[in-house]
Amino acid sequence: MTAISISREVSPKRRKLKKIGVFTSGGDAPGMNAAIRAVTRAALANKLKVVGIRRGYQGMIEGDFIPLKTSDVSGILHLGGTMLKTARSEEFRTSEGRRKAYEQLKKAEIDAVVVIGGDGSFTGALVMSQEYDISFVGIPGTIDNDMYGTDYTVGYETALNTVVEAVDKIRDTARSHGRIFFVEVMGREAGLLALTSGIACGAEVILIPESTEQNDELNRFLKKGYKSKESSGIVIVAEGDPCGGAMCKAEEVRKAHPDLDVRVSILGHIQRGGSPTAKDRVNATRMGVAAVDALLDDQQSVMIGITNEKIVLVPFNKAVKLNHCIDTDLIALHQLLNR
Ligand code: F6P
Repeated sequence: MTAISISREVSPKRRKLKKIGVFTSGGDAPGMNAAIRAVTRAALANKLKVVGIRRGYQGMIEGDFIPLKTSDVSGILHLGGTMLKTARSEEFRTSEGRRKAYEQLKKAEIDAVVVIGGDGSFTGALVMSQEYDISFVGIPGTIDNDMYGTDYTVGYETALNTVVEAVDKIRDTARSHGRIFFVEVMGREAGLLALTSGIACGAEVILIPESTEQNDELNRFLKKGYKSKESSGIVIVAEGDPCGGAMCKAEEVRKAHPDLDVRVSILGHIQRGGSPTAKDRVNATRMGVAAVDALLDDQQSVMIGITNEKIVLVPFNKAVKLNHCIDTDLIALHQLLNR
C-alpha cells in the first residue's frame, strides 16, 4: 500500500491559496453533496474562496462556475445526487479541451481544485496537472467501490443498502411463486457491490468477474436447490460478470432447464440514488475536510482514502492504475454457507 497517512496537524509549509474549485464528475453517487458541503465549509473556515464548477469537466471548459458560500451548501447533506450536476466530457479528453478548461480556471483565479469522482475523473485531473500548473486533490465518489487505496468510496454504502432492500422485496415474490430471479447489480467491472449485497441478502448464487467458480456454484444450486416446486432462489449477477449479465444468464438457464420458472430484475440506476446513509455522510464529510487540508499542505494529484477508518493520501497514478482487490475471504464465506 503506497498510501500516506496524514495527521490533522497543519504542515509548516501552509500553501498560499486564495480560491479553490470543487466539482463532481462521472457517475453520481449518494454522499457527493455531503462532500461538496464539507469542502466548501472547510475552505471558508480557512479563509479561502470557493467556486462550484458545474457539470464536471464540460462545465470547467465552458466556465460554468458559481461562487459558493456557507448558505449555498445548507440543507444538502442528506440529498442524493450532486447539486453541482455531473457529466462525462469527450472534449476534455482533447488537449484543446484541457487548454480551454485551464484558461477558465485561470480567468476565475482558481488556484487548486477538488475533484469528486472515480478513476476516469482522477485520470483527467492527473493529465491536466501534468500539462498545466494546477493542483488537484480527489475524493473517491462512485457506488462501485473499485478504487485502489481506500476501503470506501462515497456512495457505495448507500447503494449497497439500496440493493439489499430491493432484493429483499424480490425474495418475497420469488418465494410466493417458487421462482429463480437473476438480479443484475451495478459496479462496472468490479463485483464488490454484487458480492456484499449477495451475502447480505442470502443470495444462493453470486456471479462476479473476480470469481472463476460461478458456473459450478450455479449448476450445484440448480441441481440440489430444486427438489420441490416450493423452492426459490436469488442469483445476484454483477453487470461486469463475463456471463454477459442477468438477462443472458437467465436465458441460458431457461434453455437448459425448461421446467424452471425463471425471471430477471435489472436494478439499474435506482442504485445511484437515495439519501446517503450515515456512514456515507460521515465518510464524505471526513474526506471533504481532508481534501482541503491536503491542498493547504501543498499536496497535489492525490486521492483522499479511508483505510482502517483512518484518512490516507493515495497518489493518483496508483489510484487509477491499481485495482481494489476484492476480499476473497468473502467469496469463500459465501461458498461455505451455500454448499
Ligand atoms: O460508475 C458508476 C456506475 O453506476 C457503474 O456502476 C455503471 O456501470 C455506470 O456508472 C453507468 O453509467 P451511466 O450512468 O452513464 O449509464
